[in-house]
Amino acid sequence: MFSSLLLCLLSSRDVFAQGTELLKLYAPTTGSLCPDITRNPLLREFTPETQALHPRESTYISTRESTVIPKAWEDWLGTGSQIGYDVSVLSKNFSRVGIAFSGGGFRAAQYSAGVTSALDARNSSAKSAGTGGFLQVASYISGLSGKLNHPCGSWFTGSLYLNDFATIPELVHGNGKDRTGWLLDLGLFLPAGLNILDDKNTLFFQSVVTSVVAKSSTGIDTSITDAWSRMLSYHFLNQTSRANFFTDQSSHGAGQLWSNLPRNPMFEEYNVPLPLIVFDSRPSGVKLDGYTPHNIPVYEVSPFEMGSWDPSLSAMANLTHIGTHLSNGKPDNDTACVTGFDQAGFVIGTSSSLFNILLDKGQNLFEGWGEKDSAALGRLISMLLASIETRAKDVANWPSPFNSIKSNTYIDTNARWLELIDGGLNLENVPLGPLLVNSRGVDFILAADASADTHDSWPNGTSPINTILRLNNILPSSHKKFPPIPATPDDFVSMGLNTRPTLFGCDPASTSNPEYPLVLYLPNAPPLTGEKPVSNSNTFKLSYSSHHTHLFLDQVHANTIGGFKPGTNSPDPDWPKCLQCAAVDRGRMKLSPAVPRSEFCTKCFKQYCYDPANPQSVSQLPNRVLKFGGPDGSFFEEHKAVIIGVSVGGALFFIIVFACW
Ligand SMILES: *[C@@H]1O[C@H](CO)[C@@H](O)[C@H](O)[C@H]1NC(C)=O
Ligand SMILES: *[C@@H]1O[C@H](CO)[C@@H](O)[C@H](O)[C@H]1NC(C)=O
Ligand SMILES: *[C@@H]1O[C@H](CO)[C@@H](O)[C@H](O)[C@H]1NC(C)=O
Ligand SMILES: *[C@@H]1O[C@H](CO)[C@@H](O)[C@H](O)[C@H]1NC(C)=O
Ligand SMILES: *[C@@H]1O[C@H](CO)[C@@H](O)[C@H](O)[C@H]1NC(C)=O
Ligand SMILES: *[C@@H]1O[C@H](CO)[C@@H](O)[C@H](O)[C@H]1NC(C)=O
Repeated sequence: MFSSLLLCLLSSRDVFAQGTELLKLYAPTTGSLCPDITRNPLLREFTPETQALHPRESTYISTRESTVIPKAWEDWLGTGSQIGYDVSVLSKNFSRVGIAFSGGGFRAAQYSAGVTSALDARNSSAKSAGTGGFLQVASYISGLSGKLNHPCGSWFTGSLYLNDFATIPELVHGNGKDRTGWLLDLGLFLPAGLNILDDKNTLFFQSVVTSVVAKSSTGIDTSITDAWSRMLSYHFLNQTSRANFFTDQSSHGAGQLWSNLPRNPMFEEYNVPLPLIVFDSRPSGVKLDGYTPHNIPVYEVSPFEMGSWDPSLSAMANLTHIGTHLSNGKPDNDTACVTGFDQAGFVIGTSSSLFNILLDKGQNLFEGWGEKDSAALGRLISMLLASIETRAKDVANWPSPFNSIKSNTYIDTNARWLELIDGGLNLENVPLGPLLVNSRGVDFILAADASADTHDSWPNGTSPINTILRLNNILPSSHKKFPPIPATPDDFVSMGLNTRPTLFGCDPASTSNPEYPLVLYLPNAPPLTGEKPVSNSNTFKLSYSSHHTHLFLDQVHANTIGGFKPGTNSPDPDWPKCLQCAAVDRGRMKLSPAVPRSEFCTKCFKQYCYDPANPQSVSQLPNRVLKFGGPDGSFFEEHKAVIIGVSVGGALFFIIVFACW
């Protein structure tokens, strides 16, 4: 094996010598002139009490809510008579809406896409059902990737925005013109198939490496996350087609910056919700494999800034200049500034930087693998990592803009580099945190959960349960509360709440100032019709036939439109209207004088709300098939070879990138 590796490395060097300018756009620009920070600070600090949004975020949200969203509500709800309201009265106070997409690899990316298609006014079946229109009234969308070990929302969210908020069929399957689709049939690590040394695979590796090397040659540390980010860019950004996949005629998304989003016409016209991407962190110098405790800071990236609302940090840094090391808010000198670090692929790659868990040899990462196999893989990867002597290679390395601030509370105050990792590693796989920040004032949250918690890769409530723990223990001063939910995953499952849409927080104590938002929990669930599910595929499934993707999206679409009818396998024709009831409920409550909940909506809430005093039961949801029935058969049996190939390919990759350079 190692002799062929050597060959591969040698041929890599030739290619690097020639170089390809487009791929090198991945490299940030270092040594640029810094702005005058006395007039334009690159860092803003606050406390939970003085917490405020970036002025451009406030302006974006208030402008969108006063110009674009009112028309979207009217387009969605009409006069409101179908749900027993008068929209001209409700319109004085519409709820502020946020959507959170969970992590979980290609599965979660497709789940998020299926849900989105069912909420999109541009999708004719969603529109005629009555759910289509919800997407258009949202102010925020948050995403993160996901813990790989249990079998990705940031992939979806990133892709949506970097493809001009295209409709789902165009985004996922392409349109034969400017939209190239996700190309999920071309594997993530080995797009040309299992033969690692196939010419096309080698070309692909070389192109990826060219970008990463261009970055590292600026003096900025790189890691496996950079390679990972580049590979994701081939699928989720817009510059890679089937025709140019194995060529260097495209930048493959290199040079597309997150901080450029606001210059896109869809932002200039306030046409889209604001995207927020979540990362977890590993305190510098601390060895933490797998699970990340709740007290460790969680970071987010908006189109304007990067930072944390956690009370211990409470600071945000300018995104255009992210990658610049700041000490006490100051760059090292006047020409020490960096731009171009916020590569869109790197943002979504950081959010899913999960290589550190591969190192946790104690975990049986691969479903279906014996302890021995996964321990062996763990050893292999550790060995590779050990041979790399520079900075933490198993995380995303971000030069810290927060050095020397908040020294009493901030765990990384002495760090020059931040070590950022997958946003789901603290078990909050649904990125609810950003939507609960006090100053964002979100009233209604749709939480789309495609976690793979149960044996059959369905969610079981672990994520919202962890969100509550973190809110109560770490964030009581900076974030809103979360409504009551069952205390354990067992309760979630026995009440059937992981198998149907459920509203949490329907009746807060205060109606004028509700103590928590209303939350719609929308779990990835078996088809309500009793058909075999295709949406609970393993997180490790790293390629999908287009047939499977079509079935997947259609199943999720049908479930999202369908709600449930207790004791049956039929969709609930009232569900789309119940969603409308839920979406307007907080705004209605806050009106003075308050408008009472309509009779129709009261009926909806009775069926869809979680009521701790009258818990529901999974027996209301008969004949749901839990076992995966996808077209590709039992995941592990058919894909053991692919998994091994992918693992070895990834490991090989590692060597090429880091041992050699
Ligand atoms: C609506 O979404 C479904 C599921 O994603 C898709 O099959 C269908 O083609 C979409 N319809 C339109 C008009 O986009
Ligand atoms: C890709 O998206 C970026 C940002 O939206 C846009 O500027 C560019 O023109 C797009 N490129 C292609 C090939 O569609
Ligand atoms: C970031 O800094 C640059 C330079 O001072 C400034 O032009 C830009 O507006 C800042 N961006 C944000 C979102 O504050
Ligand atoms: C400015 O800071 C950068 C980064 O720390 C360093 O590489 C460079 O040598 C410094 N330049 C001067 C003129 O001190
Ligand atoms: C719920 O999911 C977690 C993993 O996220 C798992 O450890 C636990 O065993 C599951 N519990 C149930 C009841 O499914
Ligand atoms: C809308 O809700 C806010 C509270 O969020 C309240 O202060 C305001 O009075 C309400 N507006 C109207 C017109 O009722």
